[in-house]
Amino acid sequence: MKKLLIINGPNLNMLGIREPDIYGNNTYKDLVALIENKAKQTGCQAECFQSNHEGEIVDKIQQAYFDGIDGIVINPAAYTHTSVAILDALKAVKIPAVEVHISDVNTREEFRKISYAGMACEEHFIGLGFDGYIKAMEYLVNKN
Ligand code: DQA
Repeated sequence: MKKLLIINGPNLNMLGIREPDIYGNNTYKDLVALIENKAKQTGCQAECFQSNHEGEIVDKIQQAYFDGIDGIVINPAAYTHTSVAILDALKAVKIPAVEVHISDVNTREEFRKISYAGMACEEHFIGLGFDGYIKAMEYLVNKN
C-alpha cells in the first residue's frame, strides 16, 4: 500500500474563513475529509499535515524519508514563492512530489508566478480548487 504525505503550508488552516472569493467556502477539515475519502477509495495511506512554520515543513519533509513515504503532495502556500529551504528539502529526500495550488497563481500578482518548491515537483495541479489534491493523489498512486 502506497504511503502519501499531504502537506499544506501557512494560512491553509484558515480555509473557509480566508478570502472565500479566492479559496472558496470549504474548510481545512473538509479538505482532510476529502483526502481521507480518496485514500480509502484508491487503497493508499494518506497523512495530512498543516503548518504555519517553514522549519516544521522542512522537518516533516525530512522525516518522510525515514518514514518510507512514497509520494508527497505539497501546497506550500506563501512559502511557495519564498522558500529555498523547502525546495532543498524536497530535493534532498528525492521522494516524488506534486505541487498543488487551490487558486491559479499564474493569473494573480507577479510574485505568485515564482515557485521554488515547484522546481522539485514532477507534476503540478494549479487553480483546480480542492480537486487539485485529488488529481495529485491519483497521479502518485498510479505512478510506477
Ligand atoms: C496558494 C497560493 C499562494 O500564493 C498563497 O500564498 C496561498 C495559497 C493556493 O493554494 O492557491 O496561501 O498556495
